[in-house]
Amino acid sequence: MNKVICIDGPAGSGKSTTAHAVSETLGVLFVDSGALYRIMTRECLRAGVDTADPAAVAAFCKGVKVDFVVKGGRVAYEVGGEEPGDTIRTPEINAHVSPVSAVPEVRAIVTGWLRDMPRLGDIVVEGRDIGSVVYPDSPYRFYLDCDPDERARRRQKEDASKGFVQTEEQVKASLLARDRIDSSRKTAPLKVPEGAIRIDTTHLPVEGVVAEIARHLR
Ligand code: DC
Repeated sequence: MNKVICIDGPAGSGKSTTAHAVSETLGVLFVDSGALYRIMTRECLRAGVDTADPAAVAAFCKGVKVDFVVKGGRVAYEVGGEEPGDTIRTPEINAHVSPVSAVPEVRAIVTGWLRDMPRLGDIVVEGRDIGSVVYPDSPYRFYLDCDPDERARRRQKEDASKGFVQTEEQVKASLLARDRIDSSRKTAPLKVPEGAIRIDTTHLPVEGVVAEIARHLR
């Protein structure tokens, strides 16, 4: 089977930046698992599905169709022939994605998609349950941790660059609320996968994190 590098951690811990850098440095395909939960959430909201109703979310999400295409070193997702882009990164999606991703049927669908991806090549996957549930047998499993204030600072800057301007306090409250739901849900909660290598990124620049990961891969 092709190589699967798993990178888990809370929002703002640097997973995405790290996984992109690992993808470039090692020439493996970048896979953003959170984007799949965000797509499910966007489709629910567009269809007027109540995201607080797990049965309605489960029934609706069964019909969501996503195509997977290799583009520029990553696995791109297309819905109706189009990539969702920043339409899945709005504060509204942020507010609804945790309840949607807590629905077991939604997790089963997304997990199935993710397990199918190594057929496209070696991959680096960032998420919350990649090393614990999706690929528990991968020898390359990492968990990134980071102080919440630093996470809020990074995320606020990132969101502002996309035009979503909020205070650091607002961003921190939203991050911590999602952490709480993501860590306490019954199915596939966010946790340090057993046997994973934990890296604290609070004071470590991305090159340092990548070097640490590359060292373990060797
Ligand atoms: O990484 P992100 O912020 O784009 O993820 C969006 C949400 O999706 C996050 O609040 C939790 C959920 N998620 C998950 O439950 N499991 C994953 N593997 C990835 C994301």
